[in-house]
Amino acid sequence: MKVAVIGAAGGIGQALALLLKNNLPAGSDLALYDIAPVTPGVAVDLSHIPTPVSIKGFGGEDPTPALEGADVVLISAGVARKPGMDRSDLFNVNAGIVRSLTEKIADVCPTALIGIITNPVNTTVAIAAEVLKAKGVYDKNRLFGVTTLDVIRSETFVGELKGKSPLDVKVPVIGVTQA
Ligand SMILES: NC(=O)c1ccc[n+]([C@@H]2O[C@H](COP(=O)([O-])OP(=O)(O)OC[C@H]3O[C@@H](n4cnc5c(N)ncnc54)[C@H](O)[C@@H]3O)[C@@H](O)[C@H]2O)c1
Repeated sequence: MKVAVIGAAGGIGQALALLLKNNLPAGSDLALYDIAPVTPGVAVDLSHIPTPVSIKGFGGEDPTPALEGADVVLISAGVARKPGMDRSDLFNVNAGIVRSLTEKIADVCPTALIGIITNPVNTTVAIAAEVLKAKGVYDKNRLFGVTTLDVIRSETFVGELKGKSPLDVKVPVIGVTQA
């Protein structure tokens, strides 16, 4: 199995790559891609962890070498919300990044499972879906929005409020209702 992490030099991408290097099944391949030129160095550092998972890093403008043969693509490329930015500022930057990356995925590894971490997830997933549809490779069972952060935060906060160990709290889904 080959897993590609896109945005791999960022805060989320590096932590995710570390988790994957330690937890993927033996024989897996991990590809790290980011526009940041430090990305090959990030991969070299992680390659020193003694697990049977091969890892390569790619920097620069073209994600193609990281995507070739990928079974799973995880996208955390983009910008995180900074003070003074609202959700629409975030959307304007990240929407374009997710759109162009999804176009590449559709061309290079159209059957890969795609997990989108880049916020705002509820719109970046919809953008990816439209790109895949336009390319004729959309499969609703292969495109995912990653909401793990919200779930684990909830478990921590509910645990604190109820005076329980967070290990005993399970919040599988977070729903939002709008008036
Ligand atoms: N879904 C969730 O639960 C969840 C949780 C945390 C963060 N996020 C989101 O994840 C995203 C990343 O957060 P972060 O803290 O890692 O940000 P970051 O700024 O540390 O990292 C983003 C990385 O993306 C790279 N990048 C930008 N454009 C790119 C492109 N076109 N191709 C490849 N790489 C590109 C940057 O070089 C950078 O290394 C943000 O949108 C953030 O809001 C989502």
